[in-house]
Amino acid sequence: MKTLVLLFVALTSPALVWCACSDYLSDLRDRPSGLSPCPCTATQASDDSNFEASNWFIGTYHPGADSCYRSARPSSSGSGQQCCYSSTGRIITSSPGGGTADRYSPNYSFWRHRRYDVLPWNACCSGQLDSSDCATYFRYRPIDNCSRYSG
Ligand SMILES: *[C@@H]1O[C@H](CO)[C@@H](O)[C@H](O)[C@H]1NC(C)=O
Ligand SMILES: *[C@@H]1O[C@H](CO)[C@@H](O)[C@H](O)[C@H]1NC(C)=O
Repeated sequence: MKTLVLLFVALTSPALVWCACSDYLSDLRDRPSGLSPCPCTATQASDDSNFEASNWFIGTYHPGADSCYRSARPSSSGSGQQCCYSSTGRIITSSPGGGTADRYSPNYSFWRHRRYDVLPWNACCSGQLDSSDCATYFRYRPIDNCSRYSG
């Protein structure tokens, strides 16, 4: 029930307090750190205990992705990795389908995740995925390409 209430608040309140992308720049400049590299395939992610399937709202935030995984545990600074895969199970390494690093993992703090990751995405990328604002978002919340992954 608590989760449902939080989801309701998360979905409805951005419309009440709408800010421009530039209003989130200082929050975006606080970058994620200590992230685990993404596995290269969905099968590896599913077999890796450092990652957990997390497909909430991927149609909205990662259109084109077939499945997404998040770090099972936040980094020491509270950040979280997110990795998204295509229908063939290969990692997606570009926007908009690619998984984006989170400054705050939702598992570390729902509210900080919302402020530092979700609301900036809404302001910078929602409805304008090919804009320079959205490119700014991806610069500070990068998509991992699995090059550092080793089983
Ligand atoms: C959230 O964190 C707890 C404890 O750190 C962990 O057991 C759980 O699997 C995590 N859940 C998700 C969805 O990341
Ligand atoms: C993968 O990302 C790293 C930076 O994290 C970059 O140096 C490297 O060139 C990228 N590799 C490919 C194949 O895009």
